Amino acid sequence: MHILITGASGFIGDHLVNALLCANHKIIVCARHPQYIRQRWPEVAVTKADFTIDHTAADWMPRLKDIDLVINTVGIIRENRTQTFDALHISAPIALFQACESMGIRRVIQISALGANEKAFSRYHKSKYAADQYLRGSALDWAVVMPSIVYGPGAKSMALFKALAALPFIPLIDTGDQCIQPVHINDLTKAIVKLVNSPTQLRSTIEIVGPAPITLKTLYATLRNWLGQGQARFLFIPNQLALLGARWSERLANTPITEESVQMLRSGNTGNVGPFITQFGFKPRSIEQALKETPAQQADYWHAKLYFLASALRFMIAFVWIFTGFVSAFVYPIELSYALLSKIGIEGIWQPLMLYSAAAMDMLLGIATLFAFRLRMIVALQISIILLYSVIITLWLPEQWVHPFGAISKNLPLTIATLIMLVLEGEKRWNMH
Ligand SMILES: NC(=O)c1ccc[n+]([C@@H]2O[C@H](COP(=O)([O-])OP(=O)(O)OC[C@H]3O[C@@H](n4cnc5c(N)ncnc54)[C@H](OP(=O)(O)O)[C@@H]3O)[C@@H](O)[C@H]2O)c1
Repeated sequence: MHILITGASGFIGDHLVNALLCANHKIIVCARHPQYIRQRWPEVAVTKADFTIDHTAADWMPRLKDIDLVINTVGIIRENRTQTFDALHISAPIALFQACESMGIRRVIQISALGANEKAFSRYHKSKYAADQYLRGSALDWAVVMPSIVYGPGAKSMALFKALAALPFIPLIDTGDQCIQPVHINDLTKAIVKLVNSPTQLRSTIEIVGPAPITLKTLYATLRNWLGQGQARFLFIPNQLALLGARWSERLANTPITEESVQMLRSGNTGNVGPFITQFGFKPRSIEQALKETPAQQADYWHAKLYFLASALRFMIAFVWIFTGFVSAFVYPIELSYALLSKIGIEGIWQPLMLYSAAAMDMLLGIATLFAFRLRMIVALQISIILLYSVIITLWLPEQWVHPFGAISKNLPLTIATLIMLVLEGEKRWNMH
């Protein structure tokens, strides 16, 4: 079968492409970054598509030639300036479904989310529901697949849960008895492959959930035990405080912890596994069983432990540069700065010029680090400057090396920490695919 799939560079899309290739289907991918898809699966055909702009059926129709079935897995959990719920969850999918109707596509599978129903309160769920409803009202043979939280290799939400589980004190909203029903990615893809191959008409909404609900408190304790971190200790946070924290996290960092995601977690996310078992003929595995099958490796431990430290490291390195620039320009006595410059042979008008341009450079490098702007270039500049300063100080101001606060010797770990920051930030970007 010729299957067009969107969102193939994402967690679910990636696993789905692999499962469908194994089931001998021909895959055509629509993606924002075709080059990534070409590297990942050289055998797969790919065309460029962008859900922020492809909002008419005419945008999609040329891509649907000779296609039998379409699967849409594009989605976001938080918005930014261009990536909005309206564009990604409503306008683009509806345009795609309209194009499918015009082109006589046999079947469309929409990856929605558990909780995307008429009672939904979050903009995430409401926007998903809007597109799902359009599809349900169409003449197509459709399936709206509604997974609970999906876990497995590459899962972003479970990566966050593991990182929280690895904290010395695990934050819980209220008492932490909110329930979710996580489902393993292999059970989800197995079910979707069955939908793809089904000879009978679908026209159905299917909840994809694990075998039983689990409270967040139990989930964290289970994950912590899996990571070999011993007894879990909890920090119970009242809902209002959790919302306030999420609001700030949303503003300061590009994390999945948003006010809305906290509200969604608080209201739980569970379903009835019975219809799944009846329809697909197998019982999805429990998270305990899945974790037992894949014991934690050192990489899992590092990933969980470094999840929050990675951002903290970037903020701290940014702080060092901004603070140093500020202190040099406005706090440290100017005559002492000029005296140091004199010792290395800088005199007259060059002294203020050097002092203030170096301070401005430090602050700019710090601000760029704060926003992770062109990090590779910024890190190269930072390390070059650290090395240059260290050489100059060694040659002309060697007494600074024996300062009791280690003013210069700290440059050595700072250089390594800067390189580690680059690796961790690079890994985060890689993880986006
Ligand atoms: N993972 C879960 O636990 C879970 C649970 C329930 C429902 N879902 C739903 O399942 C779907 C897939 O989730 P996921 O975890 O696989 O998400 P993901 O890993 O974040 O993947 C999202 C996909 O959407 C693509 N995308 C984002 N913006 C786009 C744009 N403007 N144009 C074209 N493509 C764009 C991404 O491509 P780039 O690589 O170019 O960014 C990526 O391929 C989503 O709709 C999500 O709401 C997920």
